[in-house]
Amino acid sequence: MTYDKSELLYEGKAKKIFSVQGDDQVIWQEFKDSFTAFNGEKKATMAGKGVINQKIASLIFFFFSDQGIPSHWVKDQGEDSMVTKKLSMIDLEVVVRNILAGSTAKKFNILEGTALGEPLVEFYYKKDELGDPFISDDQALMLKVVRAPEDLLTLKKLALQVNQVLKKLFHQAQIDLVDFKLEFGYDREGNILLGDEISPDSCRLWDQQTKEKMDKDRFRRDLGQVLEKYQEVLDRLTNQ
Ligand code: TMP
Ligand code: ASP
Repeated sequence: MTYDKSELLYEGKAKKIFSVQGDDQVIWQEFKDSFTAFNGEKKATMAGKGVINQKIASLIFFFFSDQGIPSHWVKDQGEDSMVTKKLSMIDLEVVVRNILAGSTAKKFNILEGTALGEPLVEFYYKKDELGDPFISDDQALMLKVVRAPEDLLTLKKLALQVNQVLKKLFHQAQIDLVDFKLEFGYDREGNILLGDEISPDSCRLWDQQTKEKMDKDRFRRDLGQVLEKYQEVLDRLTNQ
């Protein structure tokens, strides 16, 4: 099956979305070289970032297809793009934490790096203009972000399943999976599939030995060597 990129439908912070010639069931996602943080307040462009993230995301989606985790990934296109199933996206960011860091560590004044006995699943309402606030299950139902109440349970179940598989994959690459963010959507049949991407943009990844950060916190916190560490994540995942 070959696909041809057609018109630009939407430009997000990290990807451009195009329609595909003659097929309205799929879209073409092009990974950009841009970095944004703090709801787009901080911005930068680094040549080669899109290619690295596409390769990491694709490797992970490919691995997931083998592990029975349903995702939107269909086929890679060149080095910086992929064709994915068109989903009706759910306005939630589903965050899973294995080690406390970032906003939840700050919110409860708990030391970053505190290991959690059980993974923690949190929902955030995906609305830029509100700053993606934390949302309870009942608030999500009030706002009708999912089609049926049981869909929230499905999201949690899938998120924990992703965590199991992803933790193992990164562990083999000598990387601790601290936390990550997922986005899901409904396909045409109403199934819930994993969408968006998984990359160092959407995860916290720490070197297992040194605990050095290998993810977007390097950009958020001005730690330098941003792309070098993204590349190292890709190299470690590729060479295991
Ligand atoms: P947080 O600690 O800032 O809530 O972030 C939790 C995880 O979600 C972390 O791995 C980074 C990721 N994340 C995104 O992918 N996009 C976002 O907009 C935010 C705020 C976090
Ligand atoms: N994804 C958000 C942004 O691009 C926030 C973040 O990742 O820190 O602005």
